[in-house]
Amino acid sequence: MAKNNLISVHCFGQETGRLGFDENRGASFFQYNEDFLKAGNYQRLFPLLFRRIKQTQVFDKYNNDTFRGLPPMIADSLPDLFGNIIFKTWMEGSGRDASKISVLEQLAYVGTRGMGALEYQPSKSISTADTVNIDEITEIVRRVLDLKGQVSAEQLDHASLLNIFRIGTSAGGMRPKILVSEHKTLGTIIPGDIVFDDQYNHYLVKLGIEEGISYSRELVEYAYYLTAVHTGIDMTACKMIEGKHFATLRFDRQGGKKKHVLTATGLTGFDYMDPKVSSYESLFELLLFLKCPHKDAEQLFRRMVFNLVFANHDDHLKNHSFIYDEANDDWGLAPAYDLTYSLNPELNIKSRSRALSVNGKRTEIAMNDLKVIAEKYTIKNFKKVVEEVQGSIPYWQQVAEESGVPEKIRESIIKNFALLV
Ligand SMILES: Nc1ncnc2c1ncn2[C@@H]1O[C@H](COP(=O)(O)OP(=O)(O)O)[C@@H](O)[C@H]1O
Ligand SMILES: [Mg+2]
Repeated sequence: MAKNNLISVHCFGQETGRLGFDENRGASFFQYNEDFLKAGNYQRLFPLLFRRIKQTQVFDKYNNDTFRGLPPMIADSLPDLFGNIIFKTWMEGSGRDASKISVLEQLAYVGTRGMGALEYQPSKSISTADTVNIDEITEIVRRVLDLKGQVSAEQLDHASLLNIFRIGTSAGGMRPKILVSEHKTLGTIIPGDIVFDDQYNHYLVKLGIEEGISYSRELVEYAYYLTAVHTGIDMTACKMIEGKHFATLRFDRQGGKKKHVLTATGLTGFDYMDPKVSSYESLFELLLFLKCPHKDAEQLFRRMVFNLVFANHDDHLKNHSFIYDEANDDWGLAPAYDLTYSLNPELNIKSRSRALSVNGKRTEIAMNDLKVIAEKYTIKNFKKVVEEVQGSIPYWQQVAEESGVPEKIRESIIKNFALLV
């Protein structure tokens, strides 16, 4: 595709608008499809940042690593650290310089394979494989990561790399992960990038890759998942595959449909790397702005307390998402994900400042700070929530032990749990 070409943005089977990009300015342009505007459906599909006007809208404030010059809602479709390593490896393995690929071309590779419901056309067609062997994929991902993206096509089998390219570049985040779909009755596992029908369970799988550490991060995340659900946090069903990989059912694939999902960063343009906008208050305000039901504010409060008590400091704005209900043109808080221990349990780190501040604080957050938030956002019985979350520490101990998290690691993690006073 030529550099200054347009790409069209689709959702729910129709074009919503077109996107252009000016490489020199690092700026993008969006123009709504007039028919889409006129039809008046899905009015709150992009509830912030895009105005529902037919004129072209310019985005020139987002030329950084997080947004790469794109409108934030669209930037949400691009891969993060892990996906970019795979993208670069694949491109260079195919004889192309990844740094010369424009963001619009990268969106064309996302095509219909992205997270959520946004799709891009024209899309690059990538040949399909029938089944996925997770062990084989894990081994290749390990080699790609070992080689830090410096892999030539000869070093890796082309077909396997292609498979990883298809299913390993859509989801965001740092950790190695792939998308797979498991047939509900036959149990066959196929690439999870394109299919979304109801015969399959669609999973995002965080791969357990040997990386010279004495424990499995995925098992730790699994113990966190069990504890979070136990303490009333809303998450999709998760399971361990072969005791190694952490699989979470995708909330952007439901009932044979794609659901429109955006991260808090994607919705607002608040850069998840920017401490000035990174606060729980930003999320509560966003809930109010989106007119989410009050139970979502209660749920967010509970997640905040969980992250404080269970020392998950990595609670940044891309680790919170919102989901669109297309039938009612409403937004709600998406299920929680990426709840896990964020420090290195093999090192003796006592505390680290968290990504999202609470009442202006990133460390030593106390009951009084929670009280301020609870009063501001009318969370009733907030102390009971704190008690319930803290009361599930023994449950965490039990499930972490049962799941096979080594004792030394459990002890190291639990030392950083915080009792709020
Ligand atoms: N169950 C899920 N359903 C749909 N999307 C998900 C789910 N879990 C995670 N995601 C998306 O995938 C991204 C990466 O997942 P995450 O668990 O945050 O990985 P990492 O540990 O690499 O940050 C998230 O930012 C979110 O957008
Ligand atoms: Mg994450």
